[in-house]
Amino acid sequence: MIGRPRPEVTAATGYVPGKAKEAVQLATGVADVLKLASNERTAPPSERVAAAMAAAAKATNRYPDHRAVSLRNALAAELSTASGTTVGIESVAVSAGSSSLLMQLTSAYAGPGREVVYPWPSFEYYPILADLSGAKSNVVPLQPDWGFDIDGLIGAVTPATTLMFVATPNNPTGTAIAKSDLNRLLEAVPDDIIVVVDEAYREYVVPDLWDPVDLVTAHPNVVHLRTFSKAHALASARVGWCLAHPEVIECIHATQTPFAVTTMALAGAEASLGELEALKDHTGQTISERQRIVAALQSLGWTPPQSQEGNFVFLPTNDATGLAGALETSGIIVRPFADTGIRATVGEPHENDRFLDALSRLSPLSPVAP
Ligand SMILES: Cc1ncc(COP(=O)(O)O)c(C=O)c1O
Repeated sequence: MIGRPRPEVTAATGYVPGKAKEAVQLATGVADVLKLASNERTAPPSERVAAAMAAAAKATNRYPDHRAVSLRNALAAELSTASGTTVGIESVAVSAGSSSLLMQLTSAYAGPGREVVYPWPSFEYYPILADLSGAKSNVVPLQPDWGFDIDGLIGAVTPATTLMFVATPNNPTGTAIAKSDLNRLLEAVPDDIIVVVDEAYREYVVPDLWDPVDLVTAHPNVVHLRTFSKAHALASARVGWCLAHPEVIECIHATQTPFAVTTMALAGAEASLGELEALKDHTGQTISERQRIVAALQSLGWTPPQSQEGNFVFLPTNDATGLAGALETSGIIVRPFADTGIRATVGEPHENDRFLDALSRLSPLSPVAP
């Protein structure tokens, strides 16, 4: 062993992303591999957003704005307009993807002797972060219909709990927490526990949602976490943001890597914020395609969760690896979750047709419940 790595690090496997297109191309010989494994938006950002990033790239000799003042101001203004309550820049933080914010929150609030509560299955980065910090994970299985077990989450809290992650819509199941259930959870959880409401897929949700400003005002222990990686089509730029109480934002800033978000990324995100109407058109199309895929899957005999609200669909199966492997032979990459199911990103209509066509040639394998 070279050096003396912390035991939490030697035990960790690290985050495993969806397979790369090139690797599957080589393995299968299929030329036009379709990647539906990472919940990216299939369509690239607009010309205007691309141009803003290209213009910003001319100034790479200078460091970016470490505190992302312009983008945070734009986000605060957008939140103020949407909610009718003035939000200040001190309530908003920006970092290199919401993953970085999750890491900063974990380093600020978790650690040895502390406990982190989250539902399971959920975003695979949560256990990695908790483990690396030396905290204990208290994992609460989803309900048999893949919904959230609110009483289970409340019951999993102990005096050592300092952090809770709730992804809604949940990755990989697409199931979303109801407004009344979120309120019940937040009323019951002690207010010295930071509850991260991870809304990476909020733009794709159909049912009525809470206003983030009202939520954080009513519960100052809540972090409303968002990303530009999904609906804004800026996955590669790496920009995430959150709304939280200024004291929580200070803890996030204390754990921030210097100059984590590039000038290009900041410019792209701010330009994209100026195109929210066009973005709604695009998410609307993704939502209709999602609904079409779920209906088609049901008619093929699969049992996806009744309500799915992300830019992806989830198919429960006991043989996720087998199913993902079978789809790969048709040049389609999805994300397998061992013993749970597969997750496939909603793409353009012709890509979704190809996914459904490949599935129609496979018989539904045994479904599972968490
Ligand atoms: C629930 C959830 N949260 C956070 C993220 C992280 O996204 P990013 O770091 O690109 O903002 C993802 C990415 O897939 C996700 O599914």
